[in-house]
Amino acid sequence: MSRRIPLVAGNWKMHMTSHEAREFASEFCSLLVQGDAPAAEIAVCPPFTALETVAQGFATSPVWIAAQDVHEQASGAHTGEISAAMIAAAGAEGAIIGHSERREAGETDARVAAKVQRALGSGLRAILCVGESLKQREAGETESWLATQVRVALADVTADQAEGLSIAYEPIWAIGTGKTATPEIAQEACAHVRSIAGEFVDANAVRVLYGGSVKPENAAELLAQPDIDGALVGGASLDPVSLMAIARAA
Ligand code: 13P
Repeated sequence: MSRRIPLVAGNWKMHMTSHEAREFASEFCSLLVQGDAPAAEIAVCPPFTALETVAQGFATSPVWIAAQDVHEQASGAHTGEISAAMIAAAGAEGAIIGHSERREAGETDARVAAKVQRALGSGLRAILCVGESLKQREAGETESWLATQVRVALADVTADQAEGLSIAYEPIWAIGTGKTATPEIAQEACAHVRSIAGEFVDANAVRVLYGGSVKPENAAELLAQPDIDGALVGGASLDPVSLMAIARAA
């Protein structure tokens, strides 16, 4: 069984001007050199407008940068969109794909799959997000829903592309609500996501993260689960001290 290095990624969503982002990077870098280096890999996912600033701010640190989305086409007449090449040129190494907040705004499984292909095919890492609503969970549809989301998104992913892939299980009912999934629920869903991903890639190599109200207080218990290889953190990632505490808990 391959050993998976945990990943703690901060999704800043629509927060942080480039000025604020620069201050975050400088504060986080000073925390990094205090105390032991975290065992987890750390990534920060700023808005597009702060990508380059954050990449520069973290240039001499092991922290890597990901965008919050990427367009499925390489270039073209797509007003307001950002390409994989632009993300890479800004100094970022990856992109979040298929976050539930984008799916809510109309992003389909098919588009998510095309974006995964574009990202991995362009040499970016992909953090693919999947997750069920409260209604789906209560209706007993969680497993089948997650299976479909993973199968469609990974349909064209080849085994050798899997190295750049992480999958974040983010139950919609736990995002921004303070209602974290229990470690048991999160573990069960992450194990399921891993086993479905195993139809396409090496299940032991793919990182499965949990996201949804992760905080320094609950991170250790969640990250101790055998199928949870890290966290995708929203609100708590806006504070350098709490993002660092989560990374140190991993
Ligand atoms: P919160 O940590 O704020 O619940 O957000 C989770 C999330 O959506 C990360 O992508």
